[in-house]
Amino acid sequence: MAGELNFDYSYAKAFFGADDLEKVKKVSEEAKKTLLSRSGAGNDFLGWIDLPVEYDREEFERVIKASEKIKGSCDVFIVIGIGGSYLGARAAIEFLRHSFYNVVSKDKRKTPEIYFAGCNMSELYFKDLMDVIGDKDVCVNVISKSGTTIEPAVAFRFIKQFMEDKYGKEEAAKRIYATTDKTRGALKQLADNEGYETFVVPDDIGGRFSVLSSVGLLPIAVSGADIRALMNGAAIMREKCINEPFETNPSMQYAVIRNIMYGDGKSIEVIVNYEPSLHYISEWWKQLYAESEGKDHKGLFPAAMDFSTDLHSQGQFLQDGPRIMFETIMKLEGQEYDVIIGEDKDDLDGLNYLTGKHLDHVNRNALIGSRIAHVDGGVPALTIDIPDRSEESLGKLFYFFEFACGVSGYMIDVNPFNQPGVEDYKKNMFALLGRPGYEEQLKKLEERMK
Ligand code: PA5
Repeated sequence: MAGELNFDYSYAKAFFGADDLEKVKKVSEEAKKTLLSRSGAGNDFLGWIDLPVEYDREEFERVIKASEKIKGSCDVFIVIGIGGSYLGARAAIEFLRHSFYNVVSKDKRKTPEIYFAGCNMSELYFKDLMDVIGDKDVCVNVISKSGTTIEPAVAFRFIKQFMEDKYGKEEAAKRIYATTDKTRGALKQLADNEGYETFVVPDDIGGRFSVLSSVGLLPIAVSGADIRALMNGAAIMREKCINEPFETNPSMQYAVIRNIMYGDGKSIEVIVNYEPSLHYISEWWKQLYAESEGKDHKGLFPAAMDFSTDLHSQGQFLQDGPRIMFETIMKLEGQEYDVIIGEDKDDLDGLNYLTGKHLDHVNRNALIGSRIAHVDGGVPALTIDIPDRSEESLGKLFYFFEFACGVSGYMIDVNPFNQPGVEDYKKNMFALLGRPGYEEQLKKLEERMK
């Protein structure tokens, strides 16, 4: 069993008073009530709250069965999706599995190579992906709740053709899995017509809250990770989020402290990690918070930095730029792997004082040193202690962020569960591409471009 996931705001305490804390705590309690009583804006998208304990068991078993089949019959697994339909799976796989997952030998990895498509519109990326696939055996998971998002839809059109050319229609259909709406949408209809096995994105769960549904679970299971332990971790954290008082509720503490920071003019929250395996957790987090909170001209801007890499670039700005930021550090424990610094008889690099120390010892001290430097420079630091790199801890982390996000959105009085802003650019893009029904919009754009 993994240890506790803790939240530590001791490095932010100097930046606010007891009164601020009490005031914002009250706001958070109201927001939590709104969330749990399902009486706030977007309340038809709250299926994620109980998902770790109330999920479709039959579908979960089908996910495991499909993942076993994919592992047994494919060298390469292509996951097609964008935003909430891909970031959670990618985050989990990068966190839980080998740092060089696709290139480490199959003996070590034991599972298919996994590539992501439909998460951009780059022709170069797509061409290069096809080079990498070559003549390997392929399975595909196309994921889109709406079934109409252009990036995955276009990527799937190519991949479907590729699969049918390679295997013939019938065999291709056995290798393609679709995760989409239960009854509606273009992808659902296509999947039914072609006879693909389908998995459901529940109606009441939006993309960015869907990692613990089949959206995330199938690719995560294919990577060899234990999705039961992942769900178990999320269930443990759910219990805490809902029932524990502030003092022992890390998620509520995080919601409160980040909103105190926001109220104090810190408009940018920088999520920081000291482990490359956390990079895509930051990407997932950015999407979760940006799409949930950035509305009505409100919200903290979610930014991310990978340390120590970015200590040599953006670290300067964080330390010394405008005082509009605070940092939230994801501190991953237990990262010692027999990588110990040796002695050098000439010691020309002057590093012999580190002889016998783990590389992780250096990394940990980088964290401790930078955190104090940043706090001393006027940048409050919040720390999330992640006990280990296990599925259970990751389940806890996902749920911790989701719950805090729901509460936090209500605290600033926005609907955390819609994304009206991302629709605006699509209208223009479809008009420019000549999609039927967008003729009026095209006229407007042509006027603007004169
Ligand atoms: O969180 C969201 O709702 C979005 O990021 C969606 O996940 C993203 O736009 C992909 O949508 P869809 O699954 O409908 O293709």
